[in-house]
Amino acid sequence: MRLVHKIQEVREQIKQWKKEGLTIGFVPTMGALHAGHLSLIKKSVEKCDRTVVSIFVNPIQFGPNEDLDKYPRTLEADCETAKEADLIFAPTPAEMYGEGFRLSNDYLTYVIPPYFYMDKLCGKSRIGHFDGVCTVVNKFFNIVQPDFAFFGEKDRQQLIIIRKMVKDLNIPVEIIGCPIVREDSGLALSSRNSYLTPEQKEDALALSKLLFNIKKCYKQGITDASALKETAFNYLNSHHNLEYLDFRDEDNLEEKSIIDDKTIAFIAVKIGNVRLIDNVSMKD
Ligand code: PAF
Repeated sequence: MRLVHKIQEVREQIKQWKKEGLTIGFVPTMGALHAGHLSLIKKSVEKCDRTVVSIFVNPIQFGPNEDLDKYPRTLEADCETAKEADLIFAPTPAEMYGEGFRLSNDYLTYVIPPYFYMDKLCGKSRIGHFDGVCTVVNKFFNIVQPDFAFFGEKDRQQLIIIRKMVKDLNIPVEIIGCPIVREDSGLALSSRNSYLTPEQKEDALALSKLLFNIKKCYKQGITDASALKETAFNYLNSHHNLEYLDFRDEDNLEEKSIIDDKTIAFIAVKIGNVRLIDNVSMKD
């Protein structure tokens, strides 16, 4: 595994690999790597001749009151976790956006996904978040020019939006969605879990329990979204600040009042200051 910080170094390596006819897999991350990321890296290593992992806490996808400054930065440990990758690209914000760049679209060309995909779920409270994600992912695609790119289903709205961007902009990359990795308790792995106290972690179990119960009820024949939402409230207590619990189409995020196999149940809850998301597909 080789660690580089400069776009030019990535370009040179990619050029060489392309010349040799090798396929390239790409796993974009913000670091603080856990077993969820590792599962993406392993998928890429299995499928592709070479794997590139980016580690970049992307400032333009954080809102003004979000956790950009305190987001965990653990490059050394991340390099160890991602050692199966061939290349780790860890640029600085200046390398990605230019010296003295400012967090404003007056100064930067953005890729903005359709409003319909952003005015709901996480996009509703995280204004500008998906503009920042699509912009950086597009930049990475231009730098790495991967054949395949691997994204976790944990950030399912992100995955759906990236697929839409790739289709609409004819980007020559295949997007591979990878299943959520969970602790034995059911808690979905997330870099933000490290913010939770042991008590909050206990409260966080409600998200997966509630989603699994919704799926169980659906499998037993309940398809009415409002009835399924009602069952969820039994799992929440005063420590849970529910942001949304929504049933939406797996391709276009349209709201579903009657659930079917193409439905995803999405949830976001704040526990203390920690915002947690999870989702479950009604399929399989
Ligand atoms: O999912 C993430 O970690 C980030 O949103 C991504 C895709 C690496 C872009 O910064």
